[in-house]
Amino acid sequence: SGLITIDPGYKNTGSTKSAITFLDGEEGILRYRGYNIEDLAENSNFLEVSYLLINGELPTTSQYKTFSHRITKHTLVHEDIKKILDGFPSVAHPMGVLSSLICSLTAFYPNSLDPNNTDEEIQLSIVRLMAKMPTFAAWAYKNKMGHPVNYPDNNLDYCGNFMKMMFALPSEKYEVDPVISRALDKLLILHADHEQNCSTSTVRIVGSSQASIYASISAGINALWGPLHGGANQSVIEMLEAIKNDGGDSKKYLEKAKDKNDPFRLMGFGHRVYKNFDPRAKIIKKAADDVLDKLGIDDAVLDIAKELETAALNDPYFVERKLYPNVDFYSGIIYRALGIPTDMFTVMFALGRLPGWVAQWKEMRENNEPIGRPRQVYVGSTERAYVPMENR
Ligand code: CMC
Repeated sequence: SGLITIDPGYKNTGSTKSAITFLDGEEGILRYRGYNIEDLAENSNFLEVSYLLINGELPTTSQYKTFSHRITKHTLVHEDIKKILDGFPSVAHPMGVLSSLICSLTAFYPNSLDPNNTDEEIQLSIVRLMAKMPTFAAWAYKNKMGHPVNYPDNNLDYCGNFMKMMFALPSEKYEVDPVISRALDKLLILHADHEQNCSTSTVRIVGSSQASIYASISAGINALWGPLHGGANQSVIEMLEAIKNDGGDSKKYLEKAKDKNDPFRLMGFGHRVYKNFDPRAKIIKKAADDVLDKLGIDDAVLDIAKELETAALNDPYFVERKLYPNVDFYSGIIYRALGIPTDMFTVMFALGRLPGWVAQWKEMRENNEPIGRPRQVYVGSTERAYVPMENR
């Protein structure tokens, strides 16, 4: 044990070799399978990027058609899953509902528990996950609202179908707004993978015990939920709202974030790897402006966010520590403009991250990686004898 080095938070520990995502924190570069994130966000779509992450190459026309057709065909979920959903009180956070419903797939497809699934069986599980996650996400929201759920519409594309399941009401005709569906698609691309972050490492480590792919992804959703990870997008909007309701004094909150005796952090700022800028934040900031403009929305919270960013980027505390806005800083502003409620923001992140988790799980399996099992340095009591309760 003398040889064990402790590295809290694994700040300098590489857990795997990976051929999926390249990230250069100093230069602010992010590439999926060699393609720059800017290029993909501008020219590709979410299902194509998902195919790329999962299979390693961009699909041909016929590969893309087969992939998206299969996903469309599996959007329906077992009716009994509605009974599980009904058991959740309306105050349930949709992230907990989502991870539970995803985990319930182990019960509906028990074959996934067999570690010796064939490649074909694995591909089917992946298709099911991609297809059913939007249905579960929209249903989690409907349950919260106390509304009847909407069934998937297989005539729509991935994002259009999701928006319709979220927002269609029984008595009204729902038309998908192309501006909204394109904006959502872009956000999903930007979230699709980010190498060995907390949730992805969780997916790989759970999968390394040969647990079912559904159980592994469910664990990833729970890891993403925390406010230091994906949950930051919800916390950012709550913070911006609080600043707005407190008279819009962003300087005051900046001071709080700098105060080491105050647990408050500037949410949506800082990153373990990016020490120059987060390329996703750049794209999202521009997209936020575009989307609000196209939808004719004037959101005071966007102004506060920009003010806060400028103030932080000119403050020595943030400059010295290389703290920049991350992916979560502006994404919530777009989600709001699309009509998505605050407690669904992290669910949106999960929808985007799914192909990345799946690709990383698959890579872990194909590499035959050993079970994830870090070591420790023991600092507790030395040997001592049991004392009967009446003598303590
Ligand atoms: N506000 C104020 N101070 C900060 C912040 C912040 N947001 N982030 C880091 N710092 C300070 C921190 O106090 C420390 O200062 P000092 O050296 O004086 O002790 C220094 O900067 C280094 O921070 P750290 O906590 O050691 O860095 P880390 O790599 O462990 O944490 C982080 C990275 C993202 C968890 C952190 O920056 C943070 O908590 N940010 C706010 C939450 C957030 O936006 N999370 C989303 C991350 S991006 C998307 C995702 O992962 O989902």
